Amino acid sequence: MPPFAIYPSLAGRSVFVSGGGSGIGASIVEHFAEQGAKVGFVDIDVPASRALVDKLKAAGHPAPLFAKCDIRDLAAYQATIAQMAGKLGDFTVLVNNAARDDRHTIDQVTPEFWDERIAVNLRHQYFAIQSVVPGMKKAGGGSIVNFSSVSYHAMTPRLSVYQSAKAAVIGMTRGLARDLGPDRIRLNSLTPGWIMTQRQIDLWLTPEAEAGLMTAQCLKEKVYPPDIARMVLWLAADDSRLVTAQNFVVDGGRM
Ligand SMILES: NC(=O)c1ccc[n+]([C@@H]2O[C@H](COP(=O)([O-])OP(=O)(O)OC[C@H]3O[C@@H](n4cnc5c(N)ncnc54)[C@H](O)[C@@H]3O)[C@@H](O)[C@H]2O)c1
Repeated sequence: MPPFAIYPSLAGRSVFVSGGGSGIGASIVEHFAEQGAKVGFVDIDVPASRALVDKLKAAGHPAPLFAKCDIRDLAAYQATIAQMAGKLGDFTVLVNNAARDDRHTIDQVTPEFWDERIAVNLRHQYFAIQSVVPGMKKAGGGSIVNFSSVSYHAMTPRLSVYQSAKAAVIGMTRGLARDLGPDRIRLNSLTPGWIMTQRQIDLWLTPEAEAGLMTAQCLKEKVYPPDIARMVLWLAADDSRLVTAQNFVVDGGRM
C-alpha cells in the first residue's frame, strides 16, 4: 500500500463507477477496492475489465463486480445499475467517469453525431444519478462525482461537442447539488488536466507535446490516473462531508 490516506468511511461502502475497465476509471476501481469498498462497474471493454477484476482478486482485494453495458443505452444502463445495487447494496457513491474524446471537425457533426457524443459524454451521467438517488435517500445521503475536462478551458482543437458536454457537466452538478442537498446527497465535479492514461500516451504524447505541457503546468510532473483517483476517494469519503456543488481541478496547475 503506498503512503496515501486510508478512509475508514469507505470500508464496506457500495460504490458504482462507469467506464471502470481502463484508464482513469480502472484506477478509481482499484483505489476503492484497496479501501475495502464494494465496487460495481460497467464498461464496453470486456477484456480490460476482466483483467482488472482478476488483478484485484489476485492482490487479495474484494473483487469488484463487472457488467458489460453501453452507457448510451439508457434502459439497459439503468437496469444494470439496479441489478448491481441488488447484489452490492444501494450505491452511496457514484462516479460518472465514462466518456469518449474522439476528435472531429465542425463539418463532420450531423445531428446524429451530436446526439451520440452527448449520449456518451453527458446524458448517461444524469440518468445514472437518477438511478442511484432513491437508494441514497434511503441510506441518508451519498456522494456523486461527475467528470468534466480541462479541454474546454484549454480550448483543445477539434473537440467541440465533447467540450460542450463537459462544460454542461459543471452546470448539471451545481443544479442537482441544490435539489439533492436536503437529502444529504453531495455532488461535485472533477476536472482532470492532461492525464497520462495508456490511450493518451499512445495517441498524443510526443516529445513536443510533453515539453508544452511542462511549460504550461506549475508542477513539472506528468499527472497519472492515481492522482485523479485519490481526489475521487476524498470526495467520496466522509472527510469531505460538507463539500458539495464544487469543481475540483487536478492538472498540476496548468495555464
Ligand atoms: N485522460 C485525460 O487526459 C482526461 C482529461 C480530461 C478529462 N478526462 C475525463 O476523465 C474521464 C476518464 O478519462 P480516460 O482518459 O480514462 O478515458 P478513456 O477514454 O481512456 O476511458 C473511458 C472508459 O470508458 C469506457 N467507455 C467508453 N465508451 C463507453 C460506452 N459507450 N459504454 C461504457 N463504457 C464506455 C471505455 O472503454 C474506457 O474504459 C472521462 O470522463 C474523461 O472525459 C480525461
